Amino acid sequence: MCGIVGYIGPRNAQDVLLSGLAKLEYRGYDSAGIAIYDHGEVKLAKTVGRLAALEAKLNGATISGNLGIGHTRWATHGKPSDENAHPHAGCASDFAVVHNGIIENYLALKEKLLASGHHFASETDTEIIAHLLEELWTGDLFSTVLKVLEEIRGAYALAIMTKNDPGKLVAVRKHSPLVIGLGDGENFCASDIPAILEYTRDVLIMEEGEIALITESSVECFDLKGNSIEKKVFQVTWDPVAAEKGGYDHYMLKEIHEQPRAVRDTMSGRLSDDGRKVMLPELKWPEGYAQAVDRIHIVAAGTSYHAGLVGKTVIESLTRIPVDVEIASEYRYRDPIVTDHTLMVVISQSGETADTLAALRNSKERGIRVLAITNVVGSSVAREANDVIVTWAGPEISVASTKAYTTQLIALYLLALYLGQERGKLDDVFVNGFLKDMKELPDKLDEILESSPWIEQTAKDFAVWDDAFFLGRGIDYAVALEGALKYKEISYIHAEAYPAGELKHGTLALIVEGVPVIALVTEDSLYEKSVSNIKEVKARGAHVLAIAWAGDEEIGKSVDRVLYIPRTRTALAPVLMVAPLQLLAYYASVARGNDVDKPRNLAKSVTVE
Ligand code: AGP
Repeated sequence: MCGIVGYIGPRNAQDVLLSGLAKLEYRGYDSAGIAIYDHGEVKLAKTVGRLAALEAKLNGATISGNLGIGHTRWATHGKPSDENAHPHAGCASDFAVVHNGIIENYLALKEKLLASGHHFASETDTEIIAHLLEELWTGDLFSTVLKVLEEIRGAYALAIMTKNDPGKLVAVRKHSPLVIGLGDGENFCASDIPAILEYTRDVLIMEEGEIALITESSVECFDLKGNSIEKKVFQVTWDPVAAEKGGYDHYMLKEIHEQPRAVRDTMSGRLSDDGRKVMLPELKWPEGYAQAVDRIHIVAAGTSYHAGLVGKTVIESLTRIPVDVEIASEYRYRDPIVTDHTLMVVISQSGETADTLAALRNSKERGIRVLAITNVVGSSVAREANDVIVTWAGPEISVASTKAYTTQLIALYLLALYLGQERGKLDDVFVNGFLKDMKELPDKLDEILESSPWIEQTAKDFAVWDDAFFLGRGIDYAVALEGALKYKEISYIHAEAYPAGELKHGTLALIVEGVPVIALVTEDSLYEKSVSNIKEVKARGAHVLAIAWAGDEEIGKSVDRVLYIPRTRTALAPVLMVAPLQLLAYYASVARGNDVDKPRNLAKSVTVE
């Protein structure tokens, strides 16, 4: 997730761009840059580091000009560096483009452009857009951009300018957010409203597949076929702080609702065109390595550890490789039994968790190959692992991890499928079916998020209790652990997860009349067992909420409340089941009047031991 901003009008563009980028740093902050049309030239200033580093690089100088674009980056393709910072130009400096999203087919396009003599300055996917603009130039910026869009595939919000057609800004939206700000003799575009709120409250919200031609006196919107579109002006009533949360009350709620986009983005570019293969070009495994792996150790902390538990179930099922999942703060002090064919997978949203990093370093010293699944390109874990699969969730601000967890699951599914393919365990038909179900997850998550009001009321009812129990069997137990962690860490209510079959070995003693029990019931093979465990707690007076598959008519007879989730294959259930649990925790925390985004005693990244 990155932040883009564009301006055209009477003001000094640099001031508007820097001020807008400052409001977008929550979308990404590993590098920043601006491009301004200055008396016949497109002038660029960009650098690795936060916006402050860019301002330092400008060192008080002002590029004069009234047309410009700017970018604050959250790296996906290419590490944080000066060269990879946006904006990007082509071979000459006639064009400048800033981009938020992922161009899935950039490698193939880059090869073609290299073959036709283009030279590239960066490792990014975005740069190919600038070279395509050069290659396809028609003499008019708008029609050239339409031709470029016919060539690229993926998710993008773009702002584009050129010295060859000055006085125009073109902005495009496909899968990544984009708004147009309407001023008096000036106009703006940005990833999000906060960037332009100080200048205007009149906004056009760009929809999927829309393109805007912006001048200082006009904004015309079209579909990608060039058909004109009439759009309604949206009057923004939020204050700047609320705007940064996209109108949500807390970052956590915003990030819960970003999960459909984050899940889609994390799959982007990693599935073959025919949907029958997983591609992980970021894995630089030696020839035969995938076939030789004979054990996997997944090591992580907190929510990332819970993702690892789901990963174990799926990797073992699809590859038959034995997987151990370990808490980083324990594993780092153990002398684990490993061989040259043991693969270590560390999972860390921040990439800076001290125990996880220490465990990684210990394994590197033992000569073990380490694969990192992380949300932060350029983090310590990303830099020190042998290979990295980046989750494209974008910056996660709230201490409670939500979109990072679901995108970690996506990364683990892709890894399991990749390993299964490489080891000849999975045929194309199976992979195709699994990937088809994965591609349906974003829409199914959207459907679940519509149940928020019902979940909010349930959370209010449960929040009067000082205890809650989360039960599940099989993969449901792994999700129950995550649900309990979410619940306790932000509502401060004692919550624990239990393997449903384990209740009678102790925890049942804690079940009293009315206590909330959340039972996860998607493991089909263990359904009857799960129902009988529910009956055990019901017999002791528990108040049971079940999370079950839509169409399950039986479960309602055994519990007090049911939240149905749309059906998918059991292996993928955690991606859907966790959303109601995240919302339950969120609304319980709100009901208790807590600081949801910054819960007491906790930090977003535990960089100390
Ligand atoms: C998540 O809700 C927690 N705040 C916490 O457990 C977190 O998952 C854990 O600290 C690991 O962080 P990491 O993924 O950045 O390594």
